[in-house]
Amino acid sequence: MSDLELTPDVAWALATGGPWPEPAAQEGDAHFMAMALQEGLKGVGLASPNPPVGCVLVKAGRIIGSGVHTRAGDPHGEVMALRDAEARDEDPAGSTAYVTLEPCCHHGRTGPCTVALAQSGVVRVVVGVRDPNPRVDGGGLAILRSQGIAVEEGVLGEACARFHAPFFKHIRTGLPWVTLKLALGSDGSLGPPGRTTLVTPPEVQHLAHALRRASEALVVGRHTIEVDDPQLTDRWPAPTAPHRSFARVVMDEAGRIPPTARVWGPVAGQPVFRAVTSDPVPLRGVADLHLPPEGRGCSLRHLLYELAAMGVGRVLVEGGGTLAAGFLAQGLVDEFHRFQSDLPALGPPLELPLPAAWRLDSAARWPTGRWEAWR
Ligand SMILES: NC(=O)c1ccc[n+]([C@@H]2O[C@H](COP(=O)([O-])OP(=O)(O)OC[C@H]3O[C@@H](n4cnc5c(N)ncnc54)[C@H](OP(=O)(O)O)[C@@H]3O)[C@@H](O)[C@H]2O)c1
Ligand SMILES: [Zn+2]
Repeated sequence: MSDLELTPDVAWALATGGPWPEPAAQEGDAHFMAMALQEGLKGVGLASPNPPVGCVLVKAGRIIGSGVHTRAGDPHGEVMALRDAEARDEDPAGSTAYVTLEPCCHHGRTGPCTVALAQSGVVRVVVGVRDPNPRVDGGGLAILRSQGIAVEEGVLGEACARFHAPFFKHIRTGLPWVTLKLALGSDGSLGPPGRTTLVTPPEVQHLAHALRRASEALVVGRHTIEVDDPQLTDRWPAPTAPHRSFARVVMDEAGRIPPTARVWGPVAGQPVFRAVTSDPVPLRGVADLHLPPEGRGCSLRHLLYELAAMGVGRVLVEGGGTLAAGFLAQGLVDEFHRFQSDLPALGPPLELPLPAAWRLDSAARWPTGRWEAWR
């Protein structure tokens, strides 16, 4: 990938683990699975701790319904697609359902999708990837087959597994997916200590805001608040009212950040938390997250468990360098979005211990520098 034009759609795809298979470039089942993935993308950052499953219903080569799971407790993607077909006055009987993840077969807050699909007369179900949730794990496919429904598994399987990787991690470990984002100078530094020097180019700002939008919690270190005084709000793509909910978390173990910092300002849908190890003077409108001390700060693993308990499935670590290195050193990061400017930032180079198993996942170049995603 080179000289990529960073439209909002492209930024969103990259921020959600893409680029994703282009439906126009796919044929047959893969084409419709790519469409189901496009549906699923609409649920990223909304559905956790559930997976943002996308589904399309196809009859005689035509999409008659589509849906996505966008909130825990709300209907799943399959049921949303069936409802969409109904709203369009289409009959799902005899159709094929393309689903990014194996349909569920258990009673959660909603009924099993296997039942909804069978009752609607769907005759074939094409699944991207199996659901590793022990309550499903092939059980959904078996139930569908027992109802006489033809089942196909693994269509765009790799892309669907990548898409649902945050959910898989949560099922396996109970921890949310952690994305790290940093902009570095050509000298590998964030700039001179205590100063903001690196001006992030606009196209990277788009990506940074797409990453925020895909996340349910942002985490920053105390120095970043003191140096940059950021708001940490959702301002992408339209600079209007916030349209996403996420928690803003500041690592301020001893409560040193003054009450005047902009991050403490109230924002609807974007509550702010202070991660502390002691009992500092309370701040109005700010909830304290009490964490055990570890090393020279708070236990980051405990922070992640606390966030998972709040229903957070995707966390974005926005820096600075100390916090980024802390997350990396403990092996708590799943993916790293690194922007390397063509200009030096004129500070000490940052030591970032990238896991040996990581590979370059995607990359793009702009006239001002290079962006890379590692995972
Ligand atoms: N270019 C970028 O992408 C980017 C992004 C963000 C920030 N920045 C820059 O980075 C600089 C700040 O970075 P920094 O390295 O000095 O500080 P930082 O990472 O922002 O903050 C570090 C502080 O966070 C607190 N903390 C609590 N628990 C922690 C833990 N487990 N691990 C690490 N920190 C913990 C500690 O505060 P206590 O000292 O109170 O214990 C620690 O000193 C600023 O100049 C900012 O402009 C750049
Ligand atoms: Zn379901």
